[in-house]
Amino acid sequence: MENFELVETAVPEPAPGEVVVRTLYLSVDPYMRGRMRDAESYAEPWNVGEPMQAGVVGEVVEANTPDYEPGTLVTGQLEWADYSTASPSELREVDPDVAPITTALGVLGLTGLTAYFGLLEVGEPNPGDTVVVSGAAGAVGSVVGQIAKLDGCRVVGTAGSDAKTEFLTEELGFDAAINYKTTEDIRATLAEATPNGVDVYFDNVGGEITDAVFDRLNVDARVAVCGQIALYNLEERPTGPRKLGTLIQKRAKVEGLLVSDFATRWSEAGQRLGRWVAEGKLTNRETVTDGLENAPGAFLGLFEGENVGKQLVKVAERTAE
Ligand SMILES: NC(=O)c1ccc[n+]([C@@H]2O[C@H](COP(=O)([O-])OP(=O)(O)OC[C@H]3O[C@@H](n4cnc5c(N)ncnc54)[C@H](OP(=O)(O)O)[C@@H]3O)[C@@H](O)[C@H]2O)c1
Repeated sequence: MENFELVETAVPEPAPGEVVVRTLYLSVDPYMRGRMRDAESYAEPWNVGEPMQAGVVGEVVEANTPDYEPGTLVTGQLEWADYSTASPSELREVDPDVAPITTALGVLGLTGLTAYFGLLEVGEPNPGDTVVVSGAAGAVGSVVGQIAKLDGCRVVGTAGSDAKTEFLTEELGFDAAINYKTTEDIRATLAEATPNGVDVYFDNVGGEITDAVFDRLNVDARVAVCGQIALYNLEERPTGPRKLGTLIQKRAKVEGLLVSDFATRWSEAGQRLGRWVAEGKLTNRETVTDGLENAPGAFLGLFEGENVGKQLVKVAERTAE
């Protein structure tokens, strides 16, 4: 917490062609941890002293361009701030009549799209397959499991509390869920929950959970490596059990994914996800922390499992109705 600083500045003025966006909600995401260290990653490190960036939903309050009217609801990668400036090409309009505006940062935003493409394009599930998802009660994992159920799979999730495993089986329709923090023998519990082995593993966490799932992979299994949150705070990469031999025996495929690689198809996927939400087929859970000053705590809470579903920070009330 001592690494974060809240700084007061004047509300920014829009340069020609820009708008000023008042932040209503911002997203905190595990990948931001990688931008806080000077190490090789898929996203550039932030400079110390500069504002952090995040997915934001906000309203345009001032426009120095004919492209947006004040009052328009928008989303984009802006700052952890009450107000940000942006050019129209950095923003996308949010229609509050389609779904609650917060969904633009979760199930209909990057985490929903990550789940969609990671599962369907990398995991390639077939009806009847057993799909295991780690970090299952989080933003990405909860959507992965539900899409796998829509596809007719047997779905097993791992999560860090009994409240979360109950949420997975009772509310989201998972076939089984394992509390990895209290189970005495993750391998034995996993074997019980996956009597036919594992055809698709959607990995959000890495570490010991992933080692255990590898031991259950079936021939021709697919592993979609989406995140490794169990490792993000480690100074040194642990060697761990080496599982590559399993891939020979099982002819399994392990593939990393980045949601940005599917950008040309986001709109098509967003519409499909939106239909599932509207039809009640996809439950959207959010954990909302109040106040910009509490954004660092909400971010750090991701590493303690404090969130269920998508972790958001509410910064201001919407004025444009
Ligand atoms: N590749 C991509 O394009 C892409 C895009 C978005 C996200 N991601 C990755 O996907 C993963 C999920 O992201 P998200 O936004 O949906 O976050 P999230 O799952 O909503 O939040 C993180 C969750 O991780 C779990 N966790 C924290 N530390 C852990 C540990 N040491 N071991 C096991 N679980 C731990 C916690 O749940 P528990 O209570 O269950 O521990 C926590 O709630 C992250 O690894 C993220 O980096 C990748």
